Amino acid sequence: MALELCQCDMESDLYVPRPAQVVAVEPQTPMETLVRFKFPDGADLGHKPGQFVQIFIPGIGEAPISVCSAPNAECTFDLTVRKLGDVTGALHRLQPGDTVGIRGPFGNGFDMEALQGYDLVIVGGGIGLVPLRSVIQYVADHRADYANVHLLYGFKSPVEQMYVDELAQWQADCDMDVRLTIDKPHDAWDGHVGVITTLFPDLTIVPPRTYALVVGPPIMYQFVITECRLKGLADDHIIMSLERRMRCGVGKCGHCQINSKYVCMDGPVFTFSDVKHLWEAI
Ligand SMILES: Cc1cc2nc3c(=O)[nH]c(=O)nc-3n(C[C@H](O)[C@H](O)[C@H](O)COP(=O)(O)OP(=O)(O)OC[C@H]3O[C@@H](n4cnc5c(N)ncnc54)[C@H](O)[C@@H]3O)c2cc1C
Ligand code: FES
Repeated sequence: MALELCQCDMESDLYVPRPAQVVAVEPQTPMETLVRFKFPDGADLGHKPGQFVQIFIPGIGEAPISVCSAPNAECTFDLTVRKLGDVTGALHRLQPGDTVGIRGPFGNGFDMEALQGYDLVIVGGGIGLVPLRSVIQYVADHRADYANVHLLYGFKSPVEQMYVDELAQWQADCDMDVRLTIDKPHDAWDGHVGVITTLFPDLTIVPPRTYALVVGPPIMYQFVITECRLKGLADDHIIMSLERRMRCGVGKCGHCQINSKYVCMDGPVFTFSDVKHLWEAI
């Protein structure tokens, strides 16, 4: 009986948002803003890189947003939000001291322990860099556990570059090979120009000791996966995070389902070998 009650409480807890307070707001681009949160009781979110939360704004609604920071001693967590509709618009209006509701963390996240000792090729297209920032911060915090780390980040134009100072710091202080590219030439840009796959030819990858971690817009995946395969990476060494419309976030409503997979619970992180047979449905 006691166990039943306990299970019932755990189940209902999944649907009850915890109040969290905004501690900082850092605009990144005209469309993306980073918001830092903390629970008033100082509790840790308890997340893994690549997991997401459901963030609730009273009177407006709820949206799944990736946690874009690594677990840290201050027990803060960051979300970077692109302004699209009602919920994300409201998140852009948050100020320090405001309170929101948080459910989660949800999803599987990246298995950072299984990647220890390997070379990493981290590939972020546009807002896809958001969930990868939690991975990169984690790797920076545990740098000795990983071998060579390459970060490829593509965005449309200079004004869309997020995390400008951090990218420079990862390159300078964290022994990471950071390569940036914009889609088309721009007066304010003297770096690489071309879609993200144009960064691959110069990259030296030793397939058995390398994992690629890929997050970006749907169109990017097929081209990046092709490049990874051309470099000799096996399908189970290509790891990706998928985005689907979600509602419950906990495998109950079927909203995020792709055939037999619930993206909210089985994912959002999958190896390509896990999902390639579902590719048409994705
Ligand atoms: C696991 C997961 C992690 C996510 N992480 C982030 C994140 O870190 N940062 C972030 O900004 N967004 C993220 N998103 C997307 C975010 O959840 C949606 O942008 C948000 O729900 C839109 O809500 P809204 O009320 O502002 O807009 P709505 O009024 O619901 O939609 C506005 C417009 O956005 C489109 N839209 C809504 N949801 C999505 C979606 N999932 N994908 C593509 N287009 C969509 C709609 O078609 C519509 O055109 C994530 C989604 C998932 C599933
Ligand atoms: S969002 Fe409800 S089952 Fe995944």
